[in-house]
Amino acid sequence: MQIVIQPNADAVAEYGADQFSRLLSKKPDAVLGLATGSTPVALYQKLIGRYQAGELSFAKATSFNLDEYLGLSPEHPQSYRYFMQQQLFDLIDIAPEHTHVPPGNAADPITACHDYETRIEAAGGIDLQLLGIGRNGHIGFNEPSSGLRSRTRVKTLTQATIHDNARFFTEGEYQPHLSITMGIGTILDARKVLLLATGEAKADAVKAMVEGPLSAACPASALQLHQHAVVVLDEAAASKLADLEFYRHIERENQLLLQRLGKS
Ligand code: GLP
Repeated sequence: MQIVIQPNADAVAEYGADQFSRLLSKKPDAVLGLATGSTPVALYQKLIGRYQAGELSFAKATSFNLDEYLGLSPEHPQSYRYFMQQQLFDLIDIAPEHTHVPPGNAADPITACHDYETRIEAAGGIDLQLLGIGRNGHIGFNEPSSGLRSRTRVKTLTQATIHDNARFFTEGEYQPHLSITMGIGTILDARKVLLLATGEAKADAVKAMVEGPLSAACPASALQLHQHAVVVLDEAAASKLADLEFYRHIERENQLLLQRLGKS
């Protein structure tokens, strides 16, 4: 894992946006794996800004989102499809038919999960998968105890996740307890993975992911198996890492090497 520690959440978003910009300039028809939650919003705003400034185009890109609530239609304001339209898709030049979010209203969710995998494969696989992390270490909606080689499937949410995400729902509003999520195996198949975490509330999960054992108890720890996983943290999210200075040292060395190679 490459651990990148940035001074604040804005710098985390900037670093993440640079990863997308670099990929799209090299490969305009890249396949992007996207995420919801509050963490990626700042990154999406930067991508929108770069698109508006004419620096970036998504016209040839394809996207696949990680997950969706089961039982919500795409028009539902709490659905992840709606979130993506509002936060990104409606504000950039990506072709609507190139955007994919698991169908929360599928009549046959099991078949829909299988189809989602088939579509990712048909698109040539994901080039860059963006991730946040839940306080319990979940990625997508792969909750603790998820199979480390799991594929897209229906998952039951933990009470902790339902509680954490309750802030997006108004009182008395139906909040789903089930989801469709890419599996951990699906995420590990992406050619590059970019996980962003900000704020002290994520510090324990980050520590378990980076320095804990590889374990289904912390689904994000599966990224230890990935050949190209970049974890971008602000100071608060990194604050519980034991080897903080070592990670900073490696990153400084990486930057020097890139400078020497003329790639920074
Ligand atoms: C949700 C999403 C995850 C996301 C997590 C953290 O449960 N399914 O993909 O990473 O929340 O969200 P936030 O960034 O709001 O902390």
